Parts: sequence; C-alpha cells; structure tokens
Amino acid sequence: MNFNTGGSLLLLPSLAMLVSFLCLFLFLVPTLLAQSSNTNASSTRAAARALDARLQDYAYRAFVQPKTGVLYNGVVPSNLTGVQIAAMRLRSGSLRTRGVAMYKEFQIPIGVVEQPYVERLVLVYQNLGNWSLQYYPLQKYTYLAPVLGLLAYDGSDLSAKNLPELDLRAFRGPIKIRFLNVESVPEGSVRKCIWFDLHGLVEFSNLTAPNECSTIHQGHLSIVTESISPPTPPPEREGRGSNSKRIWIIIGSVVGGVALLALLGILVIWARKCKQRKKMQEMEKAADSGEALHMTTVGDTKAPSATVTRTKPTLEDEYVP
Ligand SMILES: *[C@@H]1O[C@H](CO)[C@@H](O)[C@H](O)[C@H]1NC(C)=O
Ligand SMILES: *[C@@H]1O[C@H](CO)[C@@H](O)[C@H](O)[C@H]1NC(C)=O
Ligand SMILES: *[C@@H]1O[C@H](CO)[C@@H](O)[C@H](O)[C@H]1NC(C)=O
Ligand SMILES: *[C@@H]1O[C@H](CO)[C@@H](O)[C@H](O)[C@H]1NC(C)=O
Repeated sequence: MNFNTGGSLLLLPSLAMLVSFLCLFLFLVPTLLAQSSNTNASSTRAAARALDARLQDYAYRAFVQPKTGVLYNGVVPSNLTGVQIAAMRLRSGSLRTRGVAMYKEFQIPIGVVEQPYVERLVLVYQNLGNWSLQYYPLQKYTYLAPVLGLLAYDGSDLSAKNLPELDLRAFRGPIKIRFLNVESVPEGSVRKCIWFDLHGLVEFSNLTAPNECSTIHQGHLSIVTESISPPTPPPEREGRGSNSKRIWIIIGSVVGGVALLALLGILVIWARKCKQRKKMQEMEKAADSGEALHMTTVGDTKAPSATVTRTKPTLEDEYVP
C-alpha cells in the first residue's frame, strides 16, 4: 500500500518530463529547421542582390553611343562566365505606349509603367545560365531552364553604378517569357513557373503556354519541376515535400518519445528496486528485533519476515505423519 502510492508519485514527474520532451520534439525542431533555412535565405538574397548590382554595371558598359530601343549584349567578368547580359535603353513613354515586341525571351506589351517615373530607362536582361542554382537555390524543385531576369533602371547616367531598381508594372497585360531549351520532364511531372521578386518573395504559377511564363512585375523567372526523391515515388503532388517533412518530424517525435518512455520505465523500475531493497533491509532489521509479524504485505514481493511466519505451520504439518 504504502509502496504503491510512492510508485505513482514517482511516475507523475516522469510523465511531466515526457510531455515536455515531446513538446520539445514537436515544436522546437521545426522552428530550428525554419530558422536555419531563413538565415540561409537572407544570405543568398544578399548575394543575388549584389549580383544584380554587378550585372547592372557590366550591362551599362555595353552602351557606346546607344540608340534607343536597340539591344546591346554585354560582357560579364571572367569569374561569372556562363552568365549572359544585355541592355536596352528606352524612353519611358515609348515603353508605355509601344512595349518591346521581342527582347531576348521577353515580350513586353504596351501599358508597362515604371515607378518612380524617369524620362529614359534601361532594361537590363540577365540569363544566369549555370549560375542559377547558386544565386537562386531551390529546396524541393529542380530548374528546367536557366533563371532569367529583367530589371529596370534609370537611364539618365550610363556610367552610374549601384543604381536602385525601378518598379516595373504591366497594367494592360502580362509580360511574357518564352523560355528556350527547356529540359523535358518525366511522365506525370508537373512544370511550374517560378518568380522571385527583389525582396526574397517566391511565387509559383502555371505555365501560360508551352515553355512560357508570364508576370506583371519585374524580377527573376524560370521553369521548375518538383524534385523526385529517390526512395519514394511521387504519387501526390501539391505540398508533398512539406507533408513528408512533417511526417518525418512526427516519426522522430514518436521514436524519441518511445525511447524516453523506455528510459523512464527503467528509471522507475530502478527506483522501485531501491525502495524494495531499503524496505527489505528495514524488515530484516525488524525481524531481528522480533517485530516481523507487523510488516507482512509489501506489494507483490516476498519479505523475508513474512515467509518465515507463513511457512512455519506447514513445517509442523510435515512432521505430524
Ligand atoms: C546553407 O547553410 C549551409 C550550412 O548551414 C551551407 O553549407 C550552405 O552552403 C548554405 N547554402 C547556401 C545556398 O548558402
Ligand atoms: C569576381 O571577382 C570580383 C573581383 O574582381 C569579386 O568582387 C567578386 O566577388 C567575384 N565574383 C564571384 C562570383 O566570384
Ligand atoms: C559555369 O560554366 C562556366 C564555363 O562555361 C564555368 O567557368 C563556371 O565556373 C560555371 N559556373 C558554375 C557555378 O559552375
Ligand atoms: C494550374 O493548373 C492545374 C491543372 O493543370 C489546375 O488544377 C490549377 O488550378 C491551376 N492553378 C492556377 C493557379 O491556375
């Protein structure tokens, strides 16, 4: 009796501990994961912004007595080999009322307006080629085409560096991007357009035509498909990655919880044994001083004093015949 209440009292703090550990697994682990990916994201965004600034500089160098509305291919520094750049200078009014029918992969409709207003602007084209993944890393997706960028800058000073981007917006219809050499995807895979704004926002959308994406803002775009992880075939699509991550976290928590439970079980058993041993010692002491009969039941364990007193009568019976 006395011992049993002791046992359950011992279990209460253990349960509390178990619950708190489970909470730790369920909430701390995902937030830690999110935090680590956030710090990574901000550093890669900074690198991408620094790249934009360098490419603006190098694209402007392509202008030598530039004509309006003419495309000039730029040359990138040798440590960015694989990136292609171009620049086109336009009057703001011409952009708004006529658009640009073909600027590399971009098709700019009428009704595109920059903010703040400038009289002349420069559209800088970027094709990041094999540098795409480095500056715009993907988590659960794979690029099927290089990342392309179209950014607008003030075109009044063609030797300017570190210019802020102008905010471009298409009011009459979207800017269309027809990607060249898009990689083919396995049967059943879905292709999506991905769009990165200049502040780290990422959006996915459906293709608007074969190999074509559209946007009403400036930024960087590409075509992606969801990565297929080798062990599991991808039967479901929308949000599969985040689901499997959640499942792994749950499995981790359960396994952790079970391991903890086992540990606590061992602890409880050990504590019981200790208590028992103590009780037994006490009883032995009591038996020695002739008070054994007062302490008979000790849970389901055999106390030496009890066995002695119970078996005494049977011993006498054996001697009778
Ligand atoms: C993200 O962080 C890990 C280390 O935490 C690092 O190895 C990796 O290069 C980072 N990724 C990017 C794209 O910076
Ligand atoms: C390329 O070299 C320049 C110095 O010439 C350096 O500032 C820049 O970080 C380098 N870029 C890369 C991507 O290595
Ligand atoms: C891209 O390819 C060029 C060669 O075409 C190479 O010099 C460069 O290092 C590559 N960049 C990356 C990030 O692999
Ligand atoms: C994208 O296309 C799929 C079908 O291919 C459709 O179910 C989904 O609603 C579309 N999404 C948007 C945002 O249009």
